[in-house]
Amino acid sequence: METSTNSRRDWIKKSLLSLGAVAVAPQVVWSNRVENALNTNSKFLFHNPSFNEYTPPRFPDLDSLKARLMWNENPHGPSKKAAEVFQEEVWKGNHYSWQSLGKLSDKIAAKEGVEPGQVMMGPGSSDLLEKTALVFFQHGGNVVSADPSYMSLVSVAKAAGGSWKSIKLTPDYQHDLDAMEEAIDAETRLVYITNPNNPTATITDTQKLKDFCRWVSRKVPVFIDEAYIELSDAGMANSMAPLVAENESVLVSRTFSKIYGMAGLRIGYMLGKKETLDGINEITRGGMGITGPSIAAASAGMDDVEFLDSCRSRLIEARNYFTGYLDSRNIAYMPSQTNFVIFPLEMAGDDFLNQVYDREMAVRAFKFWNQDWCRVSMGKMEEMKLFTDALDEILV
Ligand SMILES: Cc1ncc(COP(=O)(O)O)c(C=O)c1O
Repeated sequence: METSTNSRRDWIKKSLLSLGAVAVAPQVVWSNRVENALNTNSKFLFHNPSFNEYTPPRFPDLDSLKARLMWNENPHGPSKKAAEVFQEEVWKGNHYSWQSLGKLSDKIAAKEGVEPGQVMMGPGSSDLLEKTALVFFQHGGNVVSADPSYMSLVSVAKAAGGSWKSIKLTPDYQHDLDAMEEAIDAETRLVYITNPNNPTATITDTQKLKDFCRWVSRKVPVFIDEAYIELSDAGMANSMAPLVAENESVLVSRTFSKIYGMAGLRIGYMLGKKETLDGINEITRGGMGITGPSIAAASAGMDDVEFLDSCRSRLIEARNYFTGYLDSRNIAYMPSQTNFVIFPLEMAGDDFLNQVYDREMAVRAFKFWNQDWCRVSMGKMEEMKLFTDALDEILV
């Protein structure tokens, strides 16, 4: 937590209060998608996961939202240049887009310093996470990943017949790499790491992660989900992509949904060993779901460095404003290296959400580690101000 000793004490106090509040919370509605089967053993090596999302039955009308702060989108995107080529490309909509997809894939390979065969494209990175899970867990096995973390890959791994070994983050919210390595057994098919992590927004030390990947990937492939890497302080210097270039058994996913502001255009990619990607492609055909206009927009978006820089600074400005607000109210939060911030709630998450929805705004509320949390995405400054005004009323 970014907090002084006093506010840390307050936070602990508040957490205890909120535990009480949760105990009497009337009806907690859990999302099925993130409610997990539990893997524990008698030595408690595997943390007993309790990552749940509050999903009250009502949801505000998205078109009339005054502050859309729930899905970690980029409110400034897409770039004008990307939008223009998208529109032009619509007129080629009668054609399949294999060739332009191949060109984009090669452009990405050159940018990332990998071989052309080491890139697999997909309609968003979730598609690639899920395809990887389908192929890796078709015959069972387990995936080792953090609790809490992003659940797309883990959920599909479980649905495909695999199981989840969840490892609690360290007290400073990094991946517990030692415990993750210890959890690997003969049945482990993949280690999955989201860096920076969602929903905690925190990053794991780059050098330690690199050493871990080099060492562990000799035993089992390691998947690093880098959806938010561009927003981390050191940016691409935190990326594990260079390990793919060294042909280690490491997979790295990226998305055009976040810093590029193209969540609705659905495009992402994954880097990995050629044999691994060929194996996934053989069964699932990665790029088939991507549309021609999205391919053109992604390519133009990559070239629009000025736009990317301005998004980054505007999102960081919003983050500084919001964490400044939390500081001023003595509310602790996890140190964010992304376009979202998570902070503990003193009230039950569904109660909080309902009050936010009443004001035609949307954020997310989770419960993990016996604590309720609000996760808020960075919007435009006016949205952030509306939300902090709302917090002034809700968190009295
Ligand atoms: C950690 C992480 N990975 C992957 C995704 C999926 O993004 P997309 O499918 O839009 O590329 C998200 C979306 O929020 C995410 O937070």
